[in-house]
Amino acid sequence: MAGHIVVVGSLNMDLVVRSPRHPSPGETLLGSDFRTFPGGKGANQAVAAARVGGIVSMVGRVGQDDFGTALLQNLAANGVDAVQVKRDAEAATGVALITVAANGQNTIVVAPGANGLLAPSDVTAAKDLFTDGDVLLLQLEIPLAAVARAVEVARTRGTRVVLNPAPAQSLDSALLKHVDVIVPNQSELGLLTGMAVESMEDVTAAAHALRATGVKNVIVTLGSEGVLVIDEMNTSLLPPHQVDVVDTTAAGDAFVGAFAVALGRGGTLVEAARWGNAAGALAVTKAGAQPSLPSRAELEQLLATA
Ligand code: RIB
Repeated sequence: MAGHIVVVGSLNMDLVVRSPRHPSPGETLLGSDFRTFPGGKGANQAVAAARVGGIVSMVGRVGQDDFGTALLQNLAANGVDAVQVKRDAEAATGVALITVAANGQNTIVVAPGANGLLAPSDVTAAKDLFTDGDVLLLQLEIPLAAVARAVEVARTRGTRVVLNPAPAQSLDSALLKHVDVIVPNQSELGLLTGMAVESMEDVTAAAHALRATGVKNVIVTLGSEGVLVIDEMNTSLLPPHQVDVVDTTAAGDAFVGAFAVALGRGGTLVEAARWGNAAGALAVTKAGAQPSLPSRAELEQLLATA
């Protein structure tokens, strides 16, 4: 089915506390507003794509605990096909401990649990989900061997690969050369390339260096600086949308999910990045990961007024 989105990735329950600021090492702070939200970069991207109109399937692993049940129910409520999300008999569902400071910036520590047991064979078992013209979304919260298998399956089945390299780790060019679009944020770009990413000139140079490793297109999400899009021919900087920042959690996931849907429907890289840019902006205006992901109507409204 052309334009179908397949996400191979993580599902976490996010345990979130608001705090006046981030604590220093060894410091205890009094925070407020403890909440739990469905999260995980993979599941966030799946829900982000479904909310803006994508037909989405997810491949992943949760535990046989209450968090796992809640995450699966939430995927179903958002119309995401989760037949290939397995329930691990031993491991707990992944959790993310998140602190959101008054300025909306977060820190996240993930205990991967069942996500860490997603195996290449799980991806092979789901290979019939991948077809010509589909878009595969990958992140790095699952074992690299599963990511590599997904890239391999996509290559043999004509599925385009979009990689959000988060959390960043070094990747070899044998994998990168089969990636159609890589979408790091500024700090991930620095970690991937080992280059400075302080100024826009630095970021542009690092993004070109990443492209030179074999990945076809590079999109760097820059928060309040907008989005840098680099393909074979052009370099474009999309301006940011001006919004009130409540919580930046899942802004990158909102970007990737909406981007994939627009790409799957035949949009150009820049058109798809515009969708992503709008979805990311809307996501920071609300608290939590999946509750903050915008609907198609909200997205179109922001694009129409920009
Ligand atoms: O990208 C945001 C996500 O990162 C959170 O939902 C959390 O679960 C971590 O995976």
